Amino acid sequence: MKKFKDREQIYLGKIRERTKELQCMYEVARIITSSQRLPEIFSEVANAVPMGWQYPKKCCCRIFVDQQSYHSANFKESSNRLQSNILVKTERRGWIEVHAPAKISFLKEEQDLLDGISRTLSSVISSDYEKKYLNAQLLHADRLSTIGQLAAGVTHELSEPLANILGFSQLLLKNPELTPSIHADLKKIEKASLYARDIIRKLMTFARSNPGQMNAVSLNDVVHEALFLFESRCAKENITLCLQLAHESELPLIVANSGQIKQVLINLVVNAIQAMPNGGTLIISTNNATTTSATFVSLVVKDSGTGMSKEVLDKIFLPFFTTKDVTEGTGLGLAVVYGIINSHKGKIKVESSVGVGTIFEILFPLQSKR
Ligand SMILES: Nc1ncnc2c1ncn2[C@@H]1O[C@H](COP(=O)(O)OP(=O)(O)OP(=O)(O)O)[C@@H](O)[C@H]1O
Ligand SMILES: [Mg+2]
Repeated sequence: MKKFKDREQIYLGKIRERTKELQCMYEVARIITSSQRLPEIFSEVANAVPMGWQYPKKCCCRIFVDQQSYHSANFKESSNRLQSNILVKTERRGWIEVHAPAKISFLKEEQDLLDGISRTLSSVISSDYEKKYLNAQLLHADRLSTIGQLAAGVTHELSEPLANILGFSQLLLKNPELTPSIHADLKKIEKASLYARDIIRKLMTFARSNPGQMNAVSLNDVVHEALFLFESRCAKENITLCLQLAHESELPLIVANSGQIKQVLINLVVNAIQAMPNGGTLIISTNNATTTSATFVSLVVKDSGTGMSKEVLDKIFLPFFTTKDVTEGTGLGLAVVYGIINSHKGKIKVESSVGVGTIFEILFPLQSKR
C-alpha cells in the first residue's frame, strides 16, 4: 500500500510539473500572438517564464536579444542558471536564462522547456523582425507543434494513473456486497474517469505525428459514411445539406486512415451545424486540384453560419479553446482535426467572415492514382 501511495505521489508531482510547463507554453504563445512590438513581447515572456518552473517564486528570467536585456520583475542574478541560445539562421542573436538560488536543482524537462521557448523566440525574430510586427499566422504552426509536444508529455503522464483509477473502480464495482450509496459513488468515479480518458485520447490525437493504419481511401465514400449520421439532424435544424462531390472517376484515392478522416469531417460538420442555430446551408465538396507544382485532393466544408472574428480564428486549433458553453464544447474538435491532418501531411485552410459563414478546406497530398 505504501509503495502504491509513493508511486501515486510521484505521478501527481510529475503531472503538476507537466501542467505548469504546458501553462507556461500557452502563456508564451498567447503573448507572442498578441501582435505587440518585439521589446514588449520579450519583457512579457521574461515575466511569464518562471511560472513553468518547479519553484516559480524563486526563479527569475532574463532575455538578451541584440544587446538589449529584458528581465522578469523579480530578477536576481545567480550563478545557478539554465541557458538556451536564441539562434536565427545559425547566427546567435541572444539567449534566454532562468536563474535560481544555489540550493535549487533544475529538471531536465525545464531545460527542454527553455529550449522550446528560445526556438519560439527565434522564429519570432527571424520571420518577422524586418516587418517589426508579428505575423501570427506564420507562427501558428510552430506554436501548435510546440504545444503538441508538451501535450504529448502531459497525456503520457496522465494515462497510467487514470487507467489505475478506472481499473480499480471497475474492479470494486464487481463486489456484490457494496451498499447502494458506495455503488453510486463508484459509478461516478467510473464515469468521470471515462470522460477524462476521452479528453486524453483527443489530446493524444492532437499531439500524434503518426496516423496509424493507412489504406487507399475514396474521399467521396468517407463523405457518404459520415454524413449519413447528419441528414436527419440537418433537416430538423432547418439546414440544407448540399453535396458537391467530384466524379468518382476523376477523384484519385488518397492514402489515409479512413476512420480518422471520418472523424475530421464529423468534427467540421458538427461545428458548422452549431454555427447555424437558425438554419442555413451546409455545402460539402470534394475536388481534384492540380497546380503546376503539386496535385492534391481537397475536402471543403462550407457553412452560412455566424462566422468568426480574427481573434477567434487565430486560436481555433489550440486545444481547449472554445467559445461555446461548457455543455456544448470542450474545445478539442479542431485540435483533433489539426492533429489528424498534420499526421497525414495535409494542409488546412480556413476563411471566415462574421455574419457570412466559414469555409474549411483540407488538402491531402496525392500519393496514388486510380
Ligand atoms: N464553422 C464554424 N463557424 C463558426 N465558428 C467556428 C466554426 N468552427 C469552429 N468555430 C469556433 O472555433 C472554436 C473551436 O472549435 P472546436 O471544434 O475546436 O471546439 P468546440 O466546437 O468549441 O468544442 P468541441 O469540438 O470539443 O465540442 C469554437 O468554439 C468556435 O468558436
Ligand atoms: Mg467542435
